[in-house]
Amino acid sequence: METLTLTDLDPTWQEALQAAKKVRELAYAPYSRFQVGAAILTSGGEMITGTNVENVSYGLAICAERSAAVAAVSRGLRDFSVVAVTATHRDMDVEMPVSPCGACRQFLYEFKPRDGSLTILMANSDLSRVRVTTIDELLPAGFGPELDA
Ligand code: THU
Repeated sequence: METLTLTDLDPTWQEALQAAKKVRELAYAPYSRFQVGAAILTSGGEMITGTNVENVSYGLAICAERSAAVAAVSRGLRDFSVVAVTATHRDMDVEMPVSPCGACRQFLYEFKPRDGSLTILMANSDLSRVRVTTIDELLPAGFGPELDA
């Protein structure tokens, strides 16, 4: 897994990270105060964003990655090529790139390209550090929809 700076990245990846940074301002995270934004780039070039959405019944919180995935699928977009994630905390800078939780890894694995990899970009709060990886690296030997693979 490489750690790069924003300007090292492909311009469309930079746009996805900037969109994730922008949308995280809309996160509904009054309990954790950890605001996460995710942006999905599809194989067709569309970009769909999402935020975490918490609940007073804490365990019902939905992560930004799954919000974005649900929004994309609800628009008929199922071929994800890149997922960009960044977080900020209302009271502090987040120095480490944010990493998708186990549930989100499984959820995203469902929509990885059949014939390629799904890139995951994990950024710190000011996007100065970006970890570049793939869903296969984050979820080795994952359980996917191709049961005969
Ligand atoms: N969260 C995300 O939205 N994505 C991640 O990758 C990590 C965690 C959210 C869930 C919860 O609303 C808050 O961050 C604190 O865990």
